[in-house]
Amino acid sequence: MSGVSKTSEWQSLADSAAALSDISMRDMFAEDQGRFERFSIEAAGLFLDYSKNKITDEVADKLAALAVAVDIEGARKDMIEGKSINKTESRAVLHVALRDFAARAYHVDGEDVSQPVRAERDKMKKFCADLHQGMFKGHTGKSLDTVVNIGIGGSDLGPQMVVDALRPYWINGRRAFFVSNVDGQHLSDVLAVIDPETTLFVVASKTFTTQETLANAQSAKAWFLNSGAPEDSVAKHFVALSTNEASVTAFGIDPKNMFRFWDWVGGRYSLWSAIGLSIALQIGFENFENLLRGAHAMDEHFRTAPVKENMPMMLALVGVWNRNFQGAAAHAVLPYDQHLHRLPAYLQQADMESNGKTVTIDGAPVGVETGPVIFGEPGTNGQHAFYQLLHQGTDIVSSDFIAPALSQSPLGAHHEMLLSNFLAQTEALMRGKTEKEVRAEMATEGHSKPEIDALAPHKVFPGDRPSNSIVMEKLTPATLGALIALYEHKIFCQGVIWGVNSFDQWGVELGKVLAKSILPEIAAIAAQAQHVTDHDASTNGLINWINEIRTNNKGE
Ligand code: F6P
Repeated sequence: MSGVSKTSEWQSLADSAAALSDISMRDMFAEDQGRFERFSIEAAGLFLDYSKNKITDEVADKLAALAVAVDIEGARKDMIEGKSINKTESRAVLHVALRDFAARAYHVDGEDVSQPVRAERDKMKKFCADLHQGMFKGHTGKSLDTVVNIGIGGSDLGPQMVVDALRPYWINGRRAFFVSNVDGQHLSDVLAVIDPETTLFVVASKTFTTQETLANAQSAKAWFLNSGAPEDSVAKHFVALSTNEASVTAFGIDPKNMFRFWDWVGGRYSLWSAIGLSIALQIGFENFENLLRGAHAMDEHFRTAPVKENMPMMLALVGVWNRNFQGAAAHAVLPYDQHLHRLPAYLQQADMESNGKTVTIDGAPVGVETGPVIFGEPGTNGQHAFYQLLHQGTDIVSSDFIAPALSQSPLGAHHEMLLSNFLAQTEALMRGKTEKEVRAEMATEGHSKPEIDALAPHKVFPGDRPSNSIVMEKLTPATLGALIALYEHKIFCQGVIWGVNSFDQWGVELGKVLAKSILPEIAAIAAQAQHVTDHDASTNGLINWINEIRTNNKGE
C-alpha cells in the first residue's frame, strides 16, 4: 500500500463502505427528505445533483477530509500558479490561463504568459474575421467556406466535440470536417465531398510529429496540388496549429500561417488554445469566446469554493467513492442531448489518458484503483443498447446523466420525452425493483403462480446503482465551456487524490514505437515482403498472413 491508501481518512472511508453495505439508497431517500438539497451544487450555469450516490453526510464529510488530507487546495494553487506539476515532463499545466479575460498574470518559469495568450487569441480573431468577411480567400479568388481539421487525440476530439455540440451556432453555409484516423478511408471520404478551391486545411498538432496527422496532411496537400493548384497557393489553403515552428516550416506551411500555443497546454486540454481555431471558424469568434468565458466561470468557482461546495471537487470525490469503495470499474457518460454525442469519446481521452496510471507521481506503485473505463452514448440510444448491464449486470457501473432543461430545437413533445427518460433512468438505477414488488405487479396483471415463479427473478432490479445528474438551462457555448472545465477539474482532483500525474501519457508510446518497426515489414511498403520472424509468434503470424494476401493482390 502506498500514498493515499495509508491515510486514516482512506481507512475510515473503507469502514463506512462496509457499514453501509446493507443499507439501500432507496431507504436513504425514504428516511431523509433533505438529500437533494444537501447533495447538490449550482455553479457557472450548471446544476449537479449527486444525491443518487450511496453516500451519507458522514461519508461526504469523510470525503472532504480526504481532499484536505491530500492537500487538494494546495495542488490547485500550484496548478494555477504555473508550478511545474507535470513532473515527468517538467511542465506547468496552465490551460486555465487560456480562458481568463481578466488582466490576471499567469507565470511560467517567472514569465507572465497572459500577454502572449492574448496576442495569439487576437491573431485568431483577426484571421476568423478576414476569412468570414472574404478578405482571406482561396487561390482562385473564391471564399473559403469549408474547413478540414486534420489532427488526432486532443487536436481532434475537443474541437470536433465542441463543433458538433454547438451546431445551432454554426455560421450559415459553413462546413467543418474532422480527419483523424490514419486509415486512408477517413481522408478519402472527406476529399470526395469538398472543393479544393473553397477549402481551408487546418493542420492541428501540438508536436507536429504525430504520424497520423502528418500522413493525412501530406496526402491532403498532394490532393490539393493535384487539383491544379500552384505550389505557392498552399499558403492560402493550409494553416497550422502547433507549438513546433521548425516542423511546421519543414512541412511547408509558412510560419505566418501558424497559430501558436505552448508546452504548458496539454493536448487533451488544448481546445481553448489555437487548437480551437476550427471551432471559432465554424461558430464565430464571439461564440468561441463565450465558450472560454463559460469555462472561466467554472475555473473561478473551482478556485474559490470550499471543498463541500465545490462542484468539480465533489464530483471527483464521489467518483473516488464509487471507484475505490463501491467497486465501480467503469463509468458511463450519458448525455441526453444529441449534439453532445461526441462527449463520451472526448472524455475517454480526457479521463483515461490522464488517470489511467499504475504509479504515483514519484514512481511508486499507486496501490489503489485509478481511472475507471469511460464509455457512453447519448440517451436514449444507450438505453436500447447497454443500459441492461447498468441495471442488472453483475458489476456496478457509475454514471453521469447530462441534460439541458430546454432544447435548442424544440419539436413537438420530443424534449419532454427525452427528459422523462433521463429522469426515469436515474430513478430506476437508484431504486431498483424488489422481488416483492415484481410479484405483486405480476399478480395484478393476472399471471399465474408458476409464471410468476419463473419470471420474477429476471424482473428484479437490484438498484443502488450510483449516478450524478448534471443539468443546465440550455446547451450554449457558455454552459458547454463550464461543463468541459468541470470535467477537467474533476479529473485533476482525482489525479491528486490517487497521487498520479494526470498530465503525462507515457502509456501511448510503446505502441507508437512498435508500429514504426512493423511498418517496413508490411508488404507494398517493403520492396519485397520477407517472412517475418522478429516478433512474438502471434505478431509474426499475423504480419505473414496479411503479407501473403497483400503480395497476391497487387492492386493494393
Ligand atoms: O499519442 C497521444 C497524444 O500525444 C495525445 O496526448 C495527443 O492529444 C495526441 O497524441 C496528438 O498529439 P499532437 O497534437 O502532438 O499531434
